[in-house]
Amino acid sequence: MATKYVNAVLSEQQGDGSLPVIDGVLGPSAVDIQTLYARHSLLAFDPGFRSTAACKSAITFVDGDKGILLYRGYPIEELAEHSDFVEVAYLLMRGELPTPLQRKNFDEAVGSHNLLHEQVLSFYRGFRRDAHPMAVMVGVVGALSAFYHDVMNIRDANDRQIAATRLVAKMPMIAAASYTYSVGRPQRYPNNKLDYASNFLQMMFGTPNREYIVDPVLARALDVIFILHADHEQNASTSTVRLAASSGANPFACIAAGIASLWGPAHGGANEAVLKMLMEIGSVENIPKAIARAKDKGDAFRLMGFGHRIYKNFDPRSRVIQAQAKKVLAHLGKDDPLLEIAMHLEEIALKDEYFIERKLYPNVDFYSGILLRAMGFPMNMFTAVFAVARTAGWVSHWLELQEESHGIDRPRQIYVGKTLRHYSEKK
Ligand code: CMC
Repeated sequence: MATKYVNAVLSEQQGDGSLPVIDGVLGPSAVDIQTLYARHSLLAFDPGFRSTAACKSAITFVDGDKGILLYRGYPIEELAEHSDFVEVAYLLMRGELPTPLQRKNFDEAVGSHNLLHEQVLSFYRGFRRDAHPMAVMVGVVGALSAFYHDVMNIRDANDRQIAATRLVAKMPMIAAASYTYSVGRPQRYPNNKLDYASNFLQMMFGTPNREYIVDPVLARALDVIFILHADHEQNASTSTVRLAASSGANPFACIAAGIASLWGPAHGGANEAVLKMLMEIGSVENIPKAIARAKDKGDAFRLMGFGHRIYKNFDPRSRVIQAQAKKVLAHLGKDDPLLEIAMHLEEIALKDEYFIERKLYPNVDFYSGILLRAMGFPMNMFTAVFAVARTAGWVSHWLELQEESHGIDRPRQIYVGKTLRHYSEKK
């Protein structure tokens, strides 16, 4: 079949076939193709959504060419330096930084929703003890929809805020319990005298038989990790949450879908994959071999923690994470050989034509695994930590979506299967 083309011309005049262009506040404009099918019987084909804006959003802005990330207009570097995760969660969910009174009320709301229903804790016993924490989290967060369904009306703005706050509040205990269950330790409860990150640390690493003293340097580093991972506009897991939510599904079920999407190694699972890769490389001398493998199209190996669908420049989060990793290692008096391998790998890759041409830079996951390992997190918890943080973003997008009324998301397809045939013709 001969290839046919449609010529699109940007014009100030409206012609018969013309489609409107819509502008955002920042970033590229978009051709509004909502009437394309009705007017021209044509679909838009964009697998992987490389050129598709799936929605309008006022939450997060990413400029991948310049390496800029803004939450509600605030640069990520400023938030990582001056804010804390709970304040950032409020900012993402409500649109503005809280006043002191709003902050106090939000802290109280998070503090009153951070426990898990005791029956939820019994779910954990149904999992194999060697289950991946992300598998457990998908199950437990999905199961929460059985606890908060009939009592919640998603058409009610107040109910929606409560559901969103519940999710942000409960996620540290959900994640910590998925770890303590796997190592056979009793689960500790949140302590409202502690901040969000400190609470997560004590629930992860504390035991009931001795006092757990939170190291403020580690708590701050974890808080920064949470801030950096809190949102990233329409990434795969957030888009999954929005797609699931478009049908009016229960928010806990929608967030469980987001956790499932985040788990993959091309998304949140990359931090775990980076550490495995650095261990496999083993020493600085083996780096050229790893680089050669990453460039070889016949080899499925990729440099994990490198490249990003949107960033074609440094991921602004990777610099902040690298600085935190160095700070924590110095504070703990640890000397992680993997940090040395990572820094050499970055240096060599950034000078290599293959990576330069394709604009492949270290992303947020390149150093986060090293930092989390230094803090004592086991490798299989890395993506779970990401999920705790990203919950703030997921619920913010869920809240935003509920304010819109574009109906259920229903992508179309280009059918490439068999044409009509009949069962009676079966051979
Ligand atoms: N190592 C080697 N080559 C790479 C890499 C890599 N990490 N990433 C991309 N490429 C190459 C790819 O082979 C392709 O080459 P060619 O044009 O010759 O075919 C070119 O760069 C473009 O790659 P792509 O797959 O079209 O890029 P993408 O936008 O679809 O993929 C990505 C983005 C993040 C999935 C990919 O860069 C990747 O797999 N990176 C490693 C995994 C990773 O670190 N993921 C974490 C992403 S950040 C955290 C998050 O958002 O969750």
